[in-house]
Amino acid sequence: MADDAATILSPVAVATALSEMSREERLRWRMADVPGRPSAADRNLDIPFPFGWFPALLSEELAVGQLRPLRYFGSDLVVWRGEDGTVHMLDAHCRHLGAHMGHGGRVSGNLLECPFHAWRYDGEGVVHEIPYAERVPPRLTRPCDRQWPVVEANRLIWFWYHPHGAAPMWDVEVFPEATNPDWTDYEIHEWRVFGSLQNMAENAVDVAHFHYVHGTATFPTSEMIWDGVLRTSIIDAGLDTPQGRMEARVYSKMIGPGQSSTRFTGIAETLLIAAVTPVEKDEVRVRFCFTQPRNQASPIAAMMAQGFIHEVCRQLDQDKVIWDRQRYLDKPIICDGDGPILRFRQYYRQFYAEWAGARKE
Ligand code: FES
Ligand SMILES: [Fe+2]
Repeated sequence: MADDAATILSPVAVATALSEMSREERLRWRMADVPGRPSAADRNLDIPFPFGWFPALLSEELAVGQLRPLRYFGSDLVVWRGEDGTVHMLDAHCRHLGAHMGHGGRVSGNLLECPFHAWRYDGEGVVHEIPYAERVPPRLTRPCDRQWPVVEANRLIWFWYHPHGAAPMWDVEVFPEATNPDWTDYEIHEWRVFGSLQNMAENAVDVAHFHYVHGTATFPTSEMIWDGVLRTSIIDAGLDTPQGRMEARVYSKMIGPGQSSTRFTGIAETLLIAAVTPVEKDEVRVRFCFTQPRNQASPIAAMMAQGFIHEVCRQLDQDKVIWDRQRYLDKPIICDGDGPILRFRQYYRQFYAEWAGARKE
């Protein structure tokens, strides 16, 4: 079913087919490749990556003394946690003879040991020990050109990407709920999206698609605040019930291209931290991390909070059908009911170091 849906039906028909999939089929479909998809260049997706902080892994996925290979930003990477608990990330290929250190390497104290000849690196890529050599070649006592700054916050490991190696320009936002024992562990839902990070982010301000893709009765209205690297939108999602009005709000926040969160508050509480990180120019890894108070205000609130998670995931499934096949258009033609798509592009352009604020021509 999953493969058939992806290959035989048109995108719109696939969206209809989504509702007929079993839970298992849907989970497989979310992670499956799209057979025969055109190249990134054919879809105009071979544009620069935007800079910012991005989630790499859950903190619990990397124990003390453990390392993992990663692939993000079209790069082979290795991440490890030293015995002091600090996480480091480097380009995966050893400066000696190019072994991939994420496969067969090990953590030695706080250093990463290459599996090929046991050279030992710190988090800046400086070689501290070569067990069989009397001295370390001087060039290796200098850090690697490309650095991957890492912080941990909200039970996630975050890294800073910048194409020219600029140091982090802002901090990762800390959400107290993420580490509050009165809030649940993350409920995680995962997708591979074969598309552009910018196209995905733009979805939030694409007012008209909510009706046509997600089937909402009306075009949602929200208050939007554009403030440097920060973009906030506030949607009134209150309900009129026989008992009177139930207040609810949805706050969505974006700090650069890699830090995206949504707070559903009022009738019921939920925090969503969206871990959305590019793997290639045309592939994005998506993990939605939801947390909620262990005790919602009432059984109705608990039901609504669960309903919020279900609705967010349903909408992502529907958007994925579009994103998996969408081109990136440098100069889209926009009409008056579209919402602030061009304002969004102006906001987003600040994160492309290569374009230096200019429009891509
Ligand atoms: S290739 Fe890594 S130590 Fe030789
Ligand atoms: Fe959407």
